[in-house]
Amino acid sequence: MMGMDEKVRKTLAELGVNDAQGVEWLFAELRKTAERERAELISRGAPDQPQRERLCKALRDRWLARKGGFLSQVDENWLKPAGKDLKPVVGRQFNELRRFTPSLEIEKLVEALPLQQEASHPTELPLGSVAPRPAPRDLTLPGLRRPLGSIHPVTRMQREIEDIFLGLGFWIEGGPEIESTYYNFDALNIPESHPSRDDWDTLYIDSKTVLRTHTSPVQIRAMEKYGAPLYIIIPGKCYRHDNPDSTHSPMFHQIEGLAIDEDITFADLKGTLDFFAKKLFGEKVRTRFQPSFFPFTEPSGEVAVSCFVCDGQGCRVCKESGWIELMGCGMVHPQVLRNGGIDPDKYSGWAFGLGVDRFAMVKYDINDIQLFFQGDVRFLEQF
Ligand code: DAH
Repeated sequence: MMGMDEKVRKTLAELGVNDAQGVEWLFAELRKTAERERAELISRGAPDQPQRERLCKALRDRWLARKGGFLSQVDENWLKPAGKDLKPVVGRQFNELRRFTPSLEIEKLVEALPLQQEASHPTELPLGSVAPRPAPRDLTLPGLRRPLGSIHPVTRMQREIEDIFLGLGFWIEGGPEIESTYYNFDALNIPESHPSRDDWDTLYIDSKTVLRTHTSPVQIRAMEKYGAPLYIIIPGKCYRHDNPDSTHSPMFHQIEGLAIDEDITFADLKGTLDFFAKKLFGEKVRTRFQPSFFPFTEPSGEVAVSCFVCDGQGCRVCKESGWIELMGCGMVHPQVLRNGGIDPDKYSGWAFGLGVDRFAMVKYDINDIQLFFQGDVRFLEQF
């Protein structure tokens, strides 16, 4: 039987094809051949990247090379010399064939062709030939190792924290990472001229747009969207113009907490965060509240937890202090409630903001924040 290599070198007349039906059959055969050769190549796979590229290029050239490729020969030998009566059908079929041929482009082939550590068939067979039966396999050999992924430690920490608050009836809210200076600062009671704006080393996109420096702006967005009462936590990425070192990263993660209702007091804040710390670090930890300052809370505080490793005696994890700083918190400033459209005479609220990366470092005893973002599997596969 005449192979396709030979057929494309002949004219239709030489092939004895002289009606529309014959043309359609011939093109169907050609298309099937292309499909089969593509499928064979892909089912064989390639042992490595250079081989993969070589095999794909060979198949592509066989069909699509400008000089001598099957398609150009079909154009030259079938279409051009075809008589007036057959030309329209040959042209139509030729166009039909072209609809398939993009799948023979190198990028498409490379994408589809799997790399195999151990090709089960020889890969050097001439194209179009039939693969021999593979040799029987030694089933006592160890199998291929298929590495499983795992949850990133920061994600894991975030989920642990989320679970605790979801259990308390909070829900999870999100907001944009590219934020207006209004939400990031002004609405949080941080006016333009106020020196506390410098507390955040802000990355500006333009004079009115920043990469959010904290998750606090979503407090205002949520107040505007839902009103009171409101019980939410807000996990997300934040950005600051910090040089990377073992405790700083220009991108990091925070979780914001916000509870607004009638008769919310500082006691609710203390009780909730104490419960949270015990759930996360163990029942025996104690919490400590110290006064602090944030423009969006009044009064403001810093929460620390007694070291869950040494129980407050002093060790490496708590840097001999017996305490681990956890987060900033406070009672939502009345002006902030007002900015969010909530009446501070009727409602009050508490809020907190914590660094998820720092929590993960403390809890999993990791000494360098950079490890989270380097994508080194030797680190990640420990989780
Ligand atoms: N947004 C603050 C920061 O990034 C953290 C914070 C402190 C958030 C106190 C709060 C809060 O909601 O009440 O430094």
